[in-house]
Amino acid sequence: MDKQTQFALQDTPTTAQLDVLILAAGLGTRMRSRTAKVLHRLGGRPLIAHVCRTATALDPGHIYVIVGHQAELVEQAVKDELGAEGAIFVTQTEQRGTGDAVMAAREALADTNSTLLVLSGDVPLVSARTLAALIQQHRAHRGRGAACTLLTIKLEDPTGYGRIIRDSEGRFERIVEQKDASAAEKQLNEINAGIYCFEARALFRALEKVKPENAQGEYYLTDVPGILRAEGEDVSIFLHTDAREVSGINTRVELAEFENIIRRRTLRKLMIDSGVTLIDPAHTYISPQAQIGRDTIIYPDVHIEGDTTIGEECEIRSGTRLTNARIGNNVTVKDHSVIVDSEVSDNCTVGPFAHLRMNARMEEGSAVGNFVEMKKSRLGRKSKSMHLTYLGDATVGERTNIGAGTITCNYDGKNKHATVIEDNVKIGSDTMLVAPVTVGSGSVTGAGAVVTKDVPPDTLVAGVPAEIKKRLNENKEEQKDEAEAIKDASLVTQPE
Ligand code: UD1
Ligand code: CA
Repeated sequence: MDKQTQFALQDTPTTAQLDVLILAAGLGTRMRSRTAKVLHRLGGRPLIAHVCRTATALDPGHIYVIVGHQAELVEQAVKDELGAEGAIFVTQTEQRGTGDAVMAAREALADTNSTLLVLSGDVPLVSARTLAALIQQHRAHRGRGAACTLLTIKLEDPTGYGRIIRDSEGRFERIVEQKDASAAEKQLNEINAGIYCFEARALFRALEKVKPENAQGEYYLTDVPGILRAEGEDVSIFLHTDAREVSGINTRVELAEFENIIRRRTLRKLMIDSGVTLIDPAHTYISPQAQIGRDTIIYPDVHIEGDTTIGEECEIRSGTRLTNARIGNNVTVKDHSVIVDSEVSDNCTVGPFAHLRMNARMEEGSAVGNFVEMKKSRLGRKSKSMHLTYLGDATVGERTNIGAGTITCNYDGKNKHATVIEDNVKIGSDTMLVAPVTVGSGSVTGAGAVVTKDVPPDTLVAGVPAEIKKRLNENKEEQKDEAEAIKDASLVTQPE
């Protein structure tokens, strides 16, 4: 884990264990989606993954995740982030409100001395630093700790949120939900962020008293602080100032706004810390996970997704998408190219309109050009394939040239077969290589050849089907013999 995000909780008067409980069982009706809200992606990762990562930074005893809607998918998203053993899943069978959701974890938690940090799966940007401060205040409250501490925030437009009602002395009294609020209560602009610290025993004792007597007919977790207050327990308020950080995502409008925040943050970091030039940040889309080297230039309308890495002094031209791509130094990717799960080594050029996918690999100094597709294929050092070509399941050696319109016919309708093209080969334009097939080093295929049989080294083949036309090595052998002879002669006459 990133050291900077690790927050040890020292100097608190209580030694109670910290546990985290994340609410993630709801569908998120306001998203108008078949997909559970916490699975919608922000910065390339599900919302729930953001909350999980922040929770682990607090180094809690356990992380409980309440699941319900699309439980299996939500659990998988959590496991992807935290590992298979990283969280304990509790199922809320019917979604009867946030209070009912927490109640699902009663068996696991009611009889513990835990301090329980309750988070919502739909509040993705809250920082570990803020949460650590909240827990600190909760535990230090009046020297003995509070039963509950609420994170609140003042909003210009508090519509939709639960409002904080304070008494005449300014102390917390209760929370009223938007749908249950009177006209006067709706004017209040201090809201409940849905982030709380509870002493577990007090929480579950009060939860027993929560009734679904409200506009939504739900069990509200938000009734608990009021119940505790009425019982004479200490409820403290942690009034936060950064509204953005603690606001939730309820609609796709908010999702898009958050995406924009994360995107701008990522771009700024790349420009300031990594020395990357972005021609137009307003139209550049880069995953927060991507790493890009200094003096690389990114043109507008480029999408860089997943764990892509790009070296130094590269140029990535407009309309290009890189997904989980590994790009070396001094690489030019020309306009409208797509590189997915593939690797491009130093000093290569790609595109325009090239497509590399499924573990395609370009070695140092190689080039692919217009309308060339590479799938599960390797292009050796300094080899070129510049025009209108499909290389599928192919291994191409060094300094080989693949002529325009070459196709590796890798699929016989049932199975995929491999093509091997060795070093220093010249594949003529419009050659069909019917796999499985090997073209030996130094060989040449004529334009329009349909190669159905292996071609030995240093051989010219042509025709349909391709036949051997000429051995190319004889000349070479003669030249070699000549060179050897000259060398031997010069050795003899070499002065001492
Ligand atoms: C909640 C709060 C509101 C607060 C707001 C802050 C309640 C009643 N209201 O409202 O005071 O201002 O958050 O963002 O708590 N969930 C379940 N099971 C359920 C219902 C919800 O697990 O039965 C989960 C959802 O998946 C979500 C979280 O609880 O992650 C919050 O639920 P949501 O419906 O978004 O609550 P809000 O209406 O936003
Ligand atoms: Ca919400």
